[in-house]
Amino acid sequence: MDSNRDLALNIRKLAQEHNDFFRQSLTLIASENIMSPLAMEMLLTDFGSRYAEGLPGHRYYQGNAFVDRLETMIMEMSNRLFGSQYTDPRPISGTVANIGIIYGLTSPGDMITVPPLSGGGHISAAKFGAVGLRGLTSFDYPFDVESMNIDVDGTIKLIKEKKPKVSLFGQSVFLFPTPLRDLQDAFAETGTKVWYDAAHVLGLIAGKQFQDPLSEGAMVISASTHKTFPGPQHGIILGKCQEDVWKRVQRGVFPGSVSNHHLNSMAALGVTLAEELEFGQKYAEDTVENARTLAQTLAEEGIKMLGENNGYTKSHTIVADVRDLGGGKRCAEDLEDSGIILNKNLLPWDTSRESQNPSGLRIGSQELTRIGFGPSEMKEVGHLIADVIVRKKDHGKVREMARELKSGFREVKYCFGRHEAYSYIKLLDEGAWE
Ligand SMILES: Cc1ncc(COP(=O)(O)O)c(C=O)c1O
Repeated sequence: MDSNRDLALNIRKLAQEHNDFFRQSLTLIASENIMSPLAMEMLLTDFGSRYAEGLPGHRYYQGNAFVDRLETMIMEMSNRLFGSQYTDPRPISGTVANIGIIYGLTSPGDMITVPPLSGGGHISAAKFGAVGLRGLTSFDYPFDVESMNIDVDGTIKLIKEKKPKVSLFGQSVFLFPTPLRDLQDAFAETGTKVWYDAAHVLGLIAGKQFQDPLSEGAMVISASTHKTFPGPQHGIILGKCQEDVWKRVQRGVFPGSVSNHHLNSMAALGVTLAEELEFGQKYAEDTVENARTLAQTLAEEGIKMLGENNGYTKSHTIVADVRDLGGGKRCAEDLEDSGIILNKNLLPWDTSRESQNPSGLRIGSQELTRIGFGPSEMKEVGHLIADVIVRKKDHGKVREMARELKSGFREVKYCFGRHEAYSYIKLLDEGAWE
């Protein structure tokens, strides 16, 4: 049996192997990204051992002088980047940010309108997710497959009919901006509070390449900070609303849904905000261009891509219908075996019964863009995907080609400092274990 020391070292070995695996793979999961070296370094600091309940200047613990400065800087940078009035950087993930908003803005039994799961809605907005946990009654917006967006007329009708306390927008399969402006009359007539979940598109909003929800009617935005926004696994809430609404959101965050707000990842968020202020626009532009190039290539390869009439996407995400190519499960697994990592996904006509073998694949361009892939490399990625799912080529051969393509791109871009992507940061050298 392994000694306890061996068990500890085995965990470390697993982490190193995991890093190597991702270094060698073509990484296309639409909800992931890699951090900059400065942001990664923050995860290893003493911030990760401390508590700072409350708000800057109003804490329940001693020892928070530097945390107060950190959190205040983060709020200032974030409000500058997003044009928000308020920022709460304490939610420890996108789901926790959502719970904070739900807790702050609703009471059990209230009505809420949400994007449908099959139209890309996130589980936290589902009856069996955070929305259900709060005991809310939820209604789905109708979804239009052609435009890959909520149906505007049906959504206006739903909001006017149900008069929900809160209307939530934003999906996990998010190809096109939500037509918030078209819904403004319905919002005004019913007094619904508009909440936009930007988990997927926060980096595109930061880079001014998607939509600006806070100037299109949203009062609050929740988000993860590790998808198109290339920071640590953490969450954030932005607000442009009356002060009393914001105070309720803040109480929903603490004491509603976090105690310790993971100060090391908040520091990494701070570094990423500064880097986004500097590089965010170019990064977002390149990400969207790469997504469109990849979609075009896959379509030329004969793969059915959704959103065709609108240029496939205006975000980092593209979606393929692979029912004729063996289905989502088989395609995603074959691609993984070939060194191409993405995920199977429900498409608008699927029901949750199909969640283990849905019709689609969801593909994101943000991570490969972050290490310098441009349109010509995205075309190569498209051909490799087709080699596997259309031409059914040998997985080992494709894996070698994927590895070769990735090996030319070793550095994290759009950030301060130079750092090899997917490298393992070592605090202790090998001798330290003797
Ligand atoms: C739209 C949306 N909201 C919320 C979340 C949850 O974020 P997290 O994983 O940070 O809890 C996700 C995650 O994928 C998402 O896509």
